[in-house]
Amino acid sequence: MGIRITRAFTAALLGVTALFVTGCRQDMHDQPKFIPLRMSDFYADKRSARPIIEGTVARGQLKEDTYFYTGKIGNQEGDVMPFPVTADVLARGQERYNIYCTPCHSELGDGRGMIVQRGLRPPPSYHTDRLRKAPIGHFFDVITNGFGAMPDYATQIPVADRWAIAAYIRALQLSQNAQKSDLPAGVDVVDNVTSTIPATGTPGSGATEPPTPVKGGESK
Ligand code: HEC
Repeated sequence: MGIRITRAFTAALLGVTALFVTGCRQDMHDQPKFIPLRMSDFYADKRSARPIIEGTVARGQLKEDTYFYTGKIGNQEGDVMPFPVTADVLARGQERYNIYCTPCHSELGDGRGMIVQRGLRPPPSYHTDRLRKAPIGHFFDVITNGFGAMPDYATQIPVADRWAIAAYIRALQLSQNAQKSDLPAGVDVVDNVTSTIPATGTPGSGATEPPTPVKGGESK
């Protein structure tokens, strides 16, 4: 046996190995898989798309904190914020309130927003005893589910923002009904702005804004 035969043998061996290697590669290409919604003989019901296991929760859909999402404790509207109210939360609430609610409720929350002045049914003022005493969850619920003639704003306003708006309405209520005891010593409650607005009035009669101080040089 010469060195040549050994070489020939090595070459043959390499060739056979190469065949095996390509064989493996083919296996990976042809692995069994389901094309979406295609029939399959593998399962008894022939559905390759398997039904979702009971109790499955989609990512981001776990609503464990029911109070945060409903504003209700059992069937009762709750009277606590589900997260701490910071200055940032109130600022966000004010911004969102001014965008979504002022067209009807006005910046003061007296229910005489611009579309109301143009003839839309006036909403109640937030500065009534009933709404002052209403739990904060009520405001969250009204935004989430609507109320009577008012549509809901669940699609437009994310949950945390609805709470921020509810917190801001509380601030609005305080702003229109502040007592001396709410203020630091030495500060007095001045004539509040709502008192300059006619309590009743037909929509369209105007004058929902507090009178702006006349500045020198302005003529109209
Ligand atoms: C298109 C006008 C409109 C907009 C915008 C609107 N509301 Fe109202 N809202 C109403 C009307 C009308 C009512 C009275 C509904 C009724 O009594 O049938 C009302 C009632 C309410 C009430 C009182 C519910 C009660 O117990 O009497 C609250 C609180 C309230 N809205 C909050 C909001 C908040 C917060 C926003 C902004 C996210 C908002 N609304 C946006 C028209 C509007």
